[in-house]
Amino acid sequence: MSGNVALVLGAGPRVGASVAQKFSSNGYKVAIASRSGTGSKTTEGFLSLRADFTKPDSVPALFDAVKNEFKKAPSVFVYNAAALTNPPDKDSIFSIPSGSVVSQCQHYYFHAYERQGDGKSKGLALDGAAHGEFFAQLANHEGNVPWHATFVKDKGYVQFKQQDRAGMKTWGIFIVRS
Ligand SMILES: NC(=O)c1ccc[n+]([C@@H]2O[C@H](COP(=O)([O-])OP(=O)(O)OC[C@H]3O[C@@H](n4cnc5c(N)ncnc54)[C@H](OP(=O)(O)O)[C@@H]3O)[C@@H](O)[C@H]2O)c1
Repeated sequence: MSGNVALVLGAGPRVGASVAQKFSSNGYKVAIASRSGTGSKTTEGFLSLRADFTKPDSVPALFDAVKNEFKKAPSVFVYNAAALTNPPDKDSIFSIPSGSVVSQCQHYYFHAYERQGDGKSKGLALDGAAHGEFFAQLANHEGNVPWHATFVKDKGYVQFKQQDRAGMKTWGIFIVRS
């Protein structure tokens, strides 16, 4: 995966940081974006960008900044602020302006949703590292995972009998890759 680029929209200390670290350790160049972004590199070497997703018009500039820095568009991006700030159309990440990245490439799209092994909600007790591991599997095309991608720590994708898709639209994390 050397040379590929990952962009994490809504990167804080928990899921965002773990996902960024996982893709970096897998050889990706990584950019992260949040309201407290700095416009410079973090100590880990991530490009830190400032953005507020309540103003989605600002999002295309993030893709421009990433392309300018890494000379390549992101092949993976994650919307990790879904429960904090919905996309303009809360049912679709594609309502976030994302430049030409999504519209001009083949893409795969997942609502990732971490659950307990028995299928119960994890509430806010999310596991950042488990998200990183699962997203890396998705990016590597591992498994035949549907868009409603329920997963369990140390197991990866698990199909549960009852899929709470309505909840996933609100709480799920989105990933798109070319
Ligand atoms: N069972 C599940 O799978 C489940 C359950 C609940 C939630 N979730 C998902 O997990 C996500 C949060 O995980 P986490 O708490 O571990 O995240 P995190 O990576 O620790 O933090 C997310 C960061 O997003 C940034 N952010 C929030 N609103 C933003 C906005 N309007 N514009 C720009 N950046 C914004 C915040 O940084 P700044 O303050 O610097 O902007 C925040 O620190 C939720 O959004 C949801 O998608 C999943």
